[in-house]
Amino acid sequence: MTTTLEEPSDHVRIRRNWAKAAAAGELVGQIFYARLFEFAPAARSMFPDVIDDQARKLLQTLNWIIDHLDDPDSLAPAAEALAVRHLRYGVEAEHYPLVGEALIATLQQGLGANFSEEDKAAWLRVYAALSDIMTRAAYPSD
Ligand code: HEM
Repeated sequence: MTTTLEEPSDHVRIRRNWAKAAAAGELVGQIFYARLFEFAPAARSMFPDVIDDQARKLLQTLNWIIDHLDDPDSLAPAAEALAVRHLRYGVEAEHYPLVGEALIATLQQGLGANFSEEDKAAWLRVYAALSDIMTRAAYPSD
């Protein structure tokens, strides 16, 4: 698995996809959590009953992450701190692939034919690298 976030052509695709998806605003966050709870029903009880605030926070953070893909010196420590905070929420390393699946499913649903196989591969690579950084920081002994 790659541990670098420096793959410029992936970042270009991701920014292009995200600019289109994020234009739908908070709906993106709502779709994301609907898909996540479909894939991982047990995760529903980890979140507040009303998901709106959480959806907003997730979108803000994804915006920040996507803005900083080319700046690993800022991105890596922020991602590590985010992952360590997630320990408090009861999040385990096994949850990360489910969040990745929900994110891809959200993009597929939101972008339709505008989300190509190459786009999907770029997101999978970058999400794998990001979740690798996050889980190494939060679960060092795994
Ligand atoms: C790239 C991966 C992820 C991102 C960008 C992300 C983003 C966020 C953000 C911004 C918050 C708000 C609180 C904070 O900043 O500490 C949050 C809270 C939370 N996240 Fe994540 N998260 C990620 C992965 C996960 C995973 C894998 C799970 C597992 C199901 C998860 C479950 C939660 C829970 C339960 C909360 C607290 C909800 C609450 O009680 O208000 N997150 N996440």
